[in-house]
Amino acid sequence: MSTTHSLQKLLDKMWLDYTQLNPAAKKIHDCFVQEGEKVLNDHVAYRTFNHPKLGLQSLAQHFEKYGYEAKSDYIFKEKKLYAKHYEHSNKELPKIFISELELEKVEPFIADEVEKMVQEVPTSLIQSEEILTCGRPWKINHKTYLKLAEVSEYASWVSAFGFRPNHFTVNINALKKFKSVQDVNAFIQAKGFDLNQSGGLIKGTPEELLEQSSTMAKEVQVQFSEGPYPVPACYYEFAKRYSMPSGEIYQGFIAKSADKIFESTNRTKRV
Ligand code: NI
Repeated sequence: MSTTHSLQKLLDKMWLDYTQLNPAAKKIHDCFVQEGEKVLNDHVAYRTFNHPKLGLQSLAQHFEKYGYEAKSDYIFKEKKLYAKHYEHSNKELPKIFISELELEKVEPFIADEVEKMVQEVPTSLIQSEEILTCGRPWKINHKTYLKLAEVSEYASWVSAFGFRPNHFTVNINALKKFKSVQDVNAFIQAKGFDLNQSGGLIKGTPEELLEQSSTMAKEVQVQFSEGPYPVPACYYEFAKRYSMPSGEIYQGFIAKSADKIFESTNRTKRV
């Protein structure tokens, strides 16, 4: 099998895992297809902890072997996150955005809980690309989930869902009928989906070279030690990029905007 074929298979598997958990994303995707659009992804995002066994590099290695290269990195001071984005030479393929929670900067109990989770993850899983769609490879109780959520919504999301795409992002530049984020937002709202209002419907400006919006993650039933509880799962994002003075389209991310987009999985921002 060629590398391109194997990579496409992996991306398809990621999309399948993501849409099984988040049928709304598939519905929105299909709405675009019904309009005659071919939907390309701008990026796919993953979340993890900067634990030595499970830092962002342990996820990135599985994309790097297919030719993805690290481009820029980002710091989210308030949320205590560090992130990197990866690009492939085939520009039709999505960028990969991986963030990690900086455990040394958060309350020690989070690092303690993460340590317990990590101990349940076999090294063979981390070394296999299966990890990118494995979901949660540890047991957790709802009480711990809530305690984590009080301090870090991000930590609680990873504790509940483990390793799987947090979101896919529609590349608006590749759409034919929809020219702006405003057009896309109006279309999605008319179809009855809720958008993330944190920091305004549209994050970023043409001057910043990137505009983004996203749906609010829908709640799904997650199995905890005490039984099933509803937890906000994943969201769908929409991105429009602008040209730099060189004429090339900007491919990076805006930390200030991504900071608000992260909140699409918050429990407290439900609308
Ligand atoms: Ni994103």
